[in-house]
Amino acid sequence: MKSILDFNQLNIVILAAGVGKRMQSTLPKVLHTLAGYPLLRHVINTARLLSPSKICIVIGHGGEMVRKEISDDDLIWAVQEEQLGTGHAVMQALPNLSNNEKTLVLYGDVPLVKVETLKKLIAVTGEKQCALMTAILPDATGYGRIVRDGAKNITAIVEQKEASEEQLAIHEINTGIMLVPNEYLHDWLPKLKNSNVQREYYLTDIIGMAAKLNIEISSTQPVSAWEVMGVNNKCQLAELERIYQKERANELLEQGVKLIDPSRIDIRGTVSCESDVEIDINCIFEGKVKLGSGVKIGANCILKNVTVAANTVIHPYCLIEEAKIADECRIGPFARIRPGTALSSKAHIGNFVEVKNSQIGLGSKANHLSYIGDSIIGKRVNIGAGTITCNYDGANKYQTVIEDDVFIGSDTQLIAPVRVSKGSTIGAGSTITKDTPEGTLTLARSKQISISGWKRPTKTKK
Ligand code: UD1
Ligand code: CA
Repeated sequence: MKSILDFNQLNIVILAAGVGKRMQSTLPKVLHTLAGYPLLRHVINTARLLSPSKICIVIGHGGEMVRKEISDDDLIWAVQEEQLGTGHAVMQALPNLSNNEKTLVLYGDVPLVKVETLKKLIAVTGEKQCALMTAILPDATGYGRIVRDGAKNITAIVEQKEASEEQLAIHEINTGIMLVPNEYLHDWLPKLKNSNVQREYYLTDIIGMAAKLNIEISSTQPVSAWEVMGVNNKCQLAELERIYQKERANELLEQGVKLIDPSRIDIRGTVSCESDVEIDINCIFEGKVKLGSGVKIGANCILKNVTVAANTVIHPYCLIEEAKIADECRIGPFARIRPGTALSSKAHIGNFVEVKNSQIGLGSKANHLSYIGDSIIGKRVNIGAGTITCNYDGANKYQTVIEDDVFIGSDTQLIAPVRVSKGSTIGAGSTITKDTPEGTLTLARSKQISISGWKRPTKTKK
C-alpha cells in the first residue's frame, strides 16, 4: 500500500464559511482568537507543517474580513455565497483541486488538531483510498455517526438528524477531517443531493458513495479528543484556550523551565528558554520571546517580542514590548519598556520608569519614576529619580544623548535635542536646554530665597 507521505501531492481545503451564530458576535467565527491568534490562523499553521501543494480556504460569512486579516499571499480563497452544507462548501474549492492529488479537509473552527495526528491519517491511507478521522465519544450527541458493517468496514456517515435509534447509539463519530483523492471529489461532489432533513449538501454522503464502489475507507483517531473539538460558542473557546495553555506550559516544564504554577501562564506565540529559567505566576508572553539561562521573571509581567539574555531578573508587574535586554539586567517592579529599546549588560530600570526607543549602556541605572524616550545613554550613567527626557515639542520628536559616566540629579528635565557630555553632572531640579561640557556641573534652576513674615492665604468669608 503506497501512501502520500510525500506531502507535496496534498491539497488542503479549510472550511470557514459558517456563520458562528452562537458566538454572539459580529466577528466571523474563525477570526475569534485563541492564544492571541485567530482560530483559522492555528489551522493554517498546522496545515503548512504538511507542506501541501496548495491551501484553499472556503469563506462566506464575513469573508472579506477573514481575507483581510489572514493576508498570506499563497492562500487560495473560494467563496461560498450561501451556506448550503459542507459538501457544497468543498464544491466551491473544486476548481482549484488538481486531479491525481489528494485533499485533506480541515475545519477553520477546529484549531487544535496536531500535525502528528494528520500525518497519521495520511499514513494509513493507501492510493485511491479515502480516510476519516473519527473519535470515540462517551456522548456523541450532535455529531455524524460512523456506520460500519460486520467486518468493521466503514459504510456510511449518518448525521444526528438522520440517524435511526440504533445508529444514535454509536459512539464513534465523524470529526469532519477527511482525506479524499481529488478525482473522486470531482466525480462525487456534483452528485450530492440535499434531500435530507437539513436540506443541505452533506460532504459526509460521499463516504456512502465510496463504500458502494468498494473503495476502502481507512480511519484513525487523534491522541486526545480535544484535538478535534470545534468552537461553536465562547464556552468552548475558553475551554480550548485552557487546554492549549496547559499544553504549552507542559512543554516548558518538560524543557526544564520552572513555572511556579503551570495553570497561571499564558503564551500567545512562542517562548524559547535556555536552562534554569524561572517564571512566577500570571505572566503573559506574546509574539516571539526568548529567555536566556538563569532569567527570572516575577509575577504579573507581560513580555511581547522580547529577547532577554542570561541572568537578567525582571521583577513583578513589568510590561516589556519589542525590546532587547542584555544579560544581568534588573528591571522593575512596575517598569514599562516600550518598542525600540535595548538595554546593555547590567543596566537597571526601576519602578515607574518608562523607556521608549532608547539605548541604555553598560551598567547604567534609572531606578525611579522617569521617562526616557528617544535617548542614547552611555555606560555607568546614573539617572536620578523623576528625570524626564522632553523629547516631543507637540509636533516632532528629538533625541537626547547622555554620554558615559554622567550623573543626572533628580527631577531634571532634558529638553531634546540635547547632549550631556562625558562625566558631567546635572544638579537636581534642573531644566537643561543646552548641551553640557565634559566633566562640568550644570545647574539650571532659580536661586533659593526665603521671605520672612510671609503669610499663607486664608479663606475669604462670604
Ligand atoms: C459536520 C459533519 C458531521 C461531523 C461534524 C463535526 C457534515 C454534513 N456533517 O456537522 O458529520 O460530526 O461536522 O463537527 O459534514 N461550513 C461551511 N459551509 C457550509 C456548512 C459548513 O463552510 O455550508 C463549515 C463550518 O463553518 C464549519 C464546518 O464547515 O467550520 C462544519 O460545519 P457545521 O455546520 O458545524 O457541521 P455540523 O452540522 O456540525
Ligand atoms: Ca459543528
